[in-house]
Amino acid sequence: MLDAIHPWGSRVRAFCSQSIETRVASELWHMQGYWLLRQRIFTGEQRLFADSDRDEHDDHALPIVALALTAGMPDTVVGVVRVYSVGNQQWFGGRLGVCPSYRHHGLVGETLIRTAVGTALAAGCRRFLATVQLGNVRYFQRHHFDVVGQRLVCGVTHALMRARLADFKPVVPAWPGAPEEPA
Ligand SMILES: CC(C)(COP(=O)(O)OP(=O)(O)OC[C@H]1O[C@@H](n2cnc3c(N)ncnc32)[C@H](O)[C@@H]1OP(=O)(O)O)[C@@H](O)C(=O)NCCC(=O)NCCS
Repeated sequence: MLDAIHPWGSRVRAFCSQSIETRVASELWHMQGYWLLRQRIFTGEQRLFADSDRDEHDDHALPIVALALTAGMPDTVVGVVRVYSVGNQQWFGGRLGVCPSYRHHGLVGETLIRTAVGTALAAGCRRFLATVQLGNVRYFQRHHFDVVGQRLVCGVTHALMRARLADFKPVVPAWPGAPEEPA
């Protein structure tokens, strides 16, 4: 049995689904699950933020969700990540998180990374960066990222990592009505 965040925000028990789909969040329940899972992981579990992990990047970031399927229908948000352009065809990814019960399946985190980088690629990204907690550097190295520097995030040293874009494929269509790359 797994506990995950239900579309309507309550915690429910669910059986493990081998099938997930990842996509740019497009429905209200996707966004509700997205914010709830971010809050649960980055403020609750990791205590990186006192109240909320939302910041100025969320004003223009694309929220990406992993949805567990029940009888072929997506019904639960089990993973999140965001991507955003900083201009000059450079993008950042961040807030990668998987519902605890869905971790270590070799599925959700990897699929979210592929969708995040692929979505940026489809929108013209030529350089994709992520600030990664030091404990997760090895994980990202296994998923085609290299360390290119260091950054302080919330007073904590993170590795600045760059995706080897040749190892990723664009995810097309990225999302309906994709905006132009900012100047
Ligand atoms: C980091 C995170 C996103 C990974 O997501 P995930 O879906 O669990 O990723 P995977 O299942 O592909 O792999 C996770 C680990 O389980 C291992 N694993 C994968 N399949 C496994 C299996 N069948 N049995 C045992 N271990 C397995 C992987 O080797 C990996 O180990 P590593 O961390 O030593 O590299 C997730 O753990 C998470 O949300 N953590 C909290 C938030 C966080 O730290 N985010 C990253 C910020 S930089």
